[in-house]
Amino acid sequence: MQVVARSDNDFSRAALELAAGELVAFPTETVYGLGANALDSAAVARIFAAKSRPRFNPLIVHVHDFGVATEYAEFSALAEELAEAFWPGPLTLVLPRLENCALSPLVSSGLDTVALRSPAHKVARRLLEAAQLPIAAPSANRSGRISPTSAADVEAELGDVPAMILDGGRCPLGLESTVIRIAEDGPQILRSGALPREEIEDVLGRKLTSFGGEEGAPLSPGQLASHYAPDSAIRLNAKDPQAGEALMAFGPDAPAFEGPTINLSETGDLQEAAANFFSALRALDETGAERIAVMPIPFEGLGEAINDRLQRAAAER
Ligand code: TXA
Ligand code: MG
Repeated sequence: MQVVARSDNDFSRAALELAAGELVAFPTETVYGLGANALDSAAVARIFAAKSRPRFNPLIVHVHDFGVATEYAEFSALAEELAEAFWPGPLTLVLPRLENCALSPLVSSGLDTVALRSPAHKVARRLLEAAQLPIAAPSANRSGRISPTSAADVEAELGDVPAMILDGGRCPLGLESTVIRIAEDGPQILRSGALPREEIEDVLGRKLTSFGGEEGAPLSPGQLASHYAPDSAIRLNAKDPQAGEALMAFGPDAPAFEGPTINLSETGDLQEAAANFFSALRALDETGAERIAVMPIPFEGLGEAINDRLQRAAAER
């Protein structure tokens, strides 16, 4: 439902929807985002289902301010300087997750970093204030399509998938945020966007390097050094777990097994499986098993993204 966001009542309703695990689309100064409670993996999995993404891409987590951001990520001196200069605004910082970070691992696609941004748009800020939650939000378009800059665009892309679409008019910048990572050898630009490179370089007093070849090319977790690769080997399409293995099960027909086992979804629900996937992978890896046996997971809906991630984890060895 599309709502012109004005009264406190609109924001309280949107906050309740988020707290209940529903999706709320909202305007930012860059583009419209499709938001979910970033602490709730099931809600975050809904975003991937709604966008029909064939892969898990890490998402930007929107926070009200710098103070909230420090609850989730580690800020180096440089990162703090950038936040101070440009937040709230169209700058996203990719930072190491804190050890006990409460954010869903799915927002990071299993990486040990998280992308954070404090948006400047009045509607986004009122929503963050009302919800008192960090909000994971990619652009509110279906996968492979351009980012929406009006509530009507969002409706055309996603129909009634979001429980609410907060209409805050046309986005003033109309271009996604600039994404910066502070790497060991200095700050890198991962995606150019609404905040010009020169303005960032002026604050830092140094040049930004571009990540990998093409600037602005979409970045997949596999390209990142910090990418979470399990120590255990992965055996796919396993129906018969063996001694020494840990079992990543799926569905109601999981075999009885004495070793460490996590069922991604006992009912065979792929959205539930996606919500549990990264934490399960980590937990099974931490058992120290030599190998993780993974039951077959259907290639439909979010199963495609789960299989993509599993195949890459299996190939990394
Ligand atoms: O302006 C924007 O940034 C909009 C509004 C809604 O805030 N959001 C947006 O989100 O464009 P999305 O999901 O469409 O793009 C997020 C970008 C992707 O290029 C993704 O690869 C990168 O941020 N990203 C997110 N987390 C990352 C991480 N941990 N490491 C590296 N890149 C990350
Ligand atoms: Mg996008």
